[in-house]
Amino acid sequence: MLRTRFMALSTRVLKCDPLSISFPESASTPVISSPETLSALETASHELVHNLQTVAFPTETVYGLGALALDVSATSKIFSTKGRPADNPLIVHVSSFPMLRTLLPQDYVLSESYTALIKHFWPGALTLLFPGDPKIIPSIITAGQPTVAIRMPSHPVARALIAVANTPLAAPSANSSGKPSPTRAEHVLRDLDGKIGLILDGGACDVGLESTVVDGLHSDGAIRVLRPGGITVEDIERVLHEEMGDSPKVLVHRRDYRDEVMEAAPTTPGMKYRHYSPAVPVYLLYTASSPPNGVQLLEAGAFLASLRDTGTGERPVKVGILTPRDSLLGTCSLPTDGIEWMRFPLGPTAEPSITAHLLFDGLLTLEQQGVDLILIEEVQEEREGLAVMNRVKKAAGESRWIRFNTNVSPSRLLRVVDSS
Ligand code: TXA
Ligand code: MG
Repeated sequence: MLRTRFMALSTRVLKCDPLSISFPESASTPVISSPETLSALETASHELVHNLQTVAFPTETVYGLGALALDVSATSKIFSTKGRPADNPLIVHVSSFPMLRTLLPQDYVLSESYTALIKHFWPGALTLLFPGDPKIIPSIITAGQPTVAIRMPSHPVARALIAVANTPLAAPSANSSGKPSPTRAEHVLRDLDGKIGLILDGGACDVGLESTVVDGLHSDGAIRVLRPGGITVEDIERVLHEEMGDSPKVLVHRRDYRDEVMEAAPTTPGMKYRHYSPAVPVYLLYTASSPPNGVQLLEAGAFLASLRDTGTGERPVKVGILTPRDSLLGTCSLPTDGIEWMRFPLGPTAEPSITAHLLFDGLLTLEQQGVDLILIEEVQEEREGLAVMNRVKKAAGESRWIRFNTNVSPSRLLRVVDSS
């Protein structure tokens, strides 16, 4: 066990072994074979239920900062700890279908599309909007909106914690507002050390970015994806088609439709507030897409070499670079004069799920390594790539459109620039 002291709170980190937790069909509570894990979960549950404190815990998407969803004073600690604006609603996490039922209006009947999505993706990285009953859900959770966002996480530690506490947990990502979401317990500790009492360490999160937020409550029957995430739009479309035949339309916010009223409200995930930004500037590099009208297309080697001018000249500029490992930018040799490069490969181009898994880890790792700025290369907005680009566009303060001269191999091109 690790113990650190800072400000008022002492932050404990307790290990949990996800493999020691199972959920037998017949039992209402999980079976936990590791005494260490059981004890950690009981300690966490005590903090949540009796002390009304927050606890950070792993989910399959990112680490969450949990508190009792139905207790206003507990939930308000989430907002104060993260510095989260009060008008940004929270997701409620449940561990079972009976628990979900307790949160919904009595006369509410699941639609055919929700039934299909729940059957295939719960427990998992899919958040659904439901009608919010103000007699059940405190307005601090919904930020006064008529809907409540609910998901059932699949991570054994998350699900077991909710089951042991025996009550739904509100949980945003366990980071200070505006920062990248944490995917390992160390990320949470670095950010919130001294501000929270307990972190459950269940290892690295599988998915690496947050759940897909879906609104299927509109009278047109369409499924609106408010935030792309761990469950891909392609998978949602496939499942609805398989289960329903004449399946509803799946519309991705900002790709397929705009909603000005919704965009003015902070309920649209990640629209109103700064998001996913490390402490250093982040540039999004478009290496394949064409620039918008009036925006200059830069020659790649010259652009990369010009980054040396962003420093004071007293030492080389440290540039972090997040790219698929087999992309042009990922494989080119980089100009070394006045620049120290730190590469963080994001897996192969053909496997966007690996890019998703590594993106936040890359941003947080490079920040910790003390880079002066971070470059992220665009990926195709398909499958998990859609969610990756959604986060990257928000993390990046600026974008540049660059092109490698394809008549010259990228490595030669950069050597030419280097020697100039
Ligand atoms: O994977 C996840 O979803 C993680 C883990 C911890 O479960 N949680 C997470 O929470 O990402 P957070 O608070 O960082 O993001 C939740 C997003 C917010 O941007 C919020 O705008 C949106 O969900 N949201 C919550 N309730 C909503 C509602 N009633 N209507 C529309 N959007 C809502
Ligand atoms: Mg968040």
